[in-house]
Amino acid sequence: MSSLPLTLLFSDGVAHTVNAEPGQTVAQAAVNAGLTLLTDCSNGQCGTCVAQCVSGDIDPGDYDPSVLPDDERDDGAILCCVSKARSAAVIELPYDSCEASAPQEETQTGTVTAVTPIASEIIRLDVKVANGIEFLPGQYVRLRPNESSEWRSYSMANASGDTNLVFYIRLVTDGQFSSWLTTAKAGDLLEIGPSRGTFFLRNESRPRLFVAGGTGLAPFLAMLQAVRTTPEFNTAPIHLLIGGRTAGHLFAQEELARLQRDLPNLQISVATESDPPPGAQQGYATDLIAGLSLDKSTRVYLCGPPPMVDAARAAAMKAGIRKSEILCERFA
Ligand SMILES: Cc1cc2nc3c(=O)[nH]c(=O)nc-3n(C[C@H](O)[C@H](O)[C@H](O)COP(=O)(O)OP(=O)(O)OC[C@H]3O[C@@H](n4cnc5c(N)ncnc54)[C@H](O)[C@@H]3O)c2cc1C
Ligand code: FES
Repeated sequence: MSSLPLTLLFSDGVAHTVNAEPGQTVAQAAVNAGLTLLTDCSNGQCGTCVAQCVSGDIDPGDYDPSVLPDDERDDGAILCCVSKARSAAVIELPYDSCEASAPQEETQTGTVTAVTPIASEIIRLDVKVANGIEFLPGQYVRLRPNESSEWRSYSMANASGDTNLVFYIRLVTDGQFSSWLTTAKAGDLLEIGPSRGTFFLRNESRPRLFVAGGTGLAPFLAMLQAVRTTPEFNTAPIHLLIGGRTAGHLFAQEELARLQRDLPNLQISVATESDPPPGAQQGYATDLIAGLSLDKSTRVYLCGPPPMVDAARAAAMKAGIRKSEILCERFA
């Protein structure tokens, strides 16, 4: 199969025609022509890259149907990060061309300082950078081991501006980054992109519910550090629900104990599918939501594996929270 021409129409009227090579997504094809389309998760989970196909045949790819409902897809909406052309096509982007012509993101090289197994299937990765990364608590960066061409996204669990970055990473069977991590050691080099993402702590005075599945706890650790050090974040009750497979999959317990001691507004509940430790419940963390009598003004933050995020969102909506008040980060 040969390359296919895609015409990208921007809202300022500028059009660019790019060639999509076989197997390339629309976003990847745009890069061939030096255009960086707006993306966030890059895997069909957030909706940031939505665009409108006005002619041509596009394979929509794999994505979360809650970010692109079937009726919108049937009307031509696509997610540029996962969709691939089956024919020549014309695609309307809902932003100006200057936003896509942005220079390549500035990256910096980080040095691994520690690779520490801290729980079943979970590694803590510490990386030293020369320039601390400023970020909104909850955001992530993309990492690329020096010997790899692939980037992967990981949420920072450290405080903004720190020159020691902390990541909690679940090892995935046969995963590229996971395989690298199993042999990584102090001194190895990584390329690190700037902070990204819309899953960050909102500065508002209302109750918050945080639901973390597995390493989905990482962004909440950054958020809770910000709550501890920034008085305007620390104005309302926070309930953190943590879900893990077994007691052996739980991590950062000492840090959580310190945060709980420093933050009287913080309540933590833990559930594991089996083998619950003392004080934890057996089952899914998402099952706890129904019993919380949530205040209707609660802002809900969900982070972890997609099935957990979807179950938690359904439970929060059943408890009376509007969809627009629920922020999700799926670790897909
Ligand atoms: C915004 C964001 C933040 C994230 N933050 C974190 C975090 O803080 N902690 C964390 O643990 N994770 C996080 N993730 C998930 C993380 O980015 C990776 O997706 C995850 O670590 C897996 O990467 P990998 O390279 O090890 O696996 P991949 O190489 O991406 O593989 C994933 C799975 O696909 C399978 N696979 C790979 N290639 C093929 C193929 N050709 N055919 C069939 N199957 C294949 C693998 O066997 C594996 O099971 C985050 C994701 C996002 C989007
Ligand atoms: S960037 Fe495409 S759905 Fe998130």
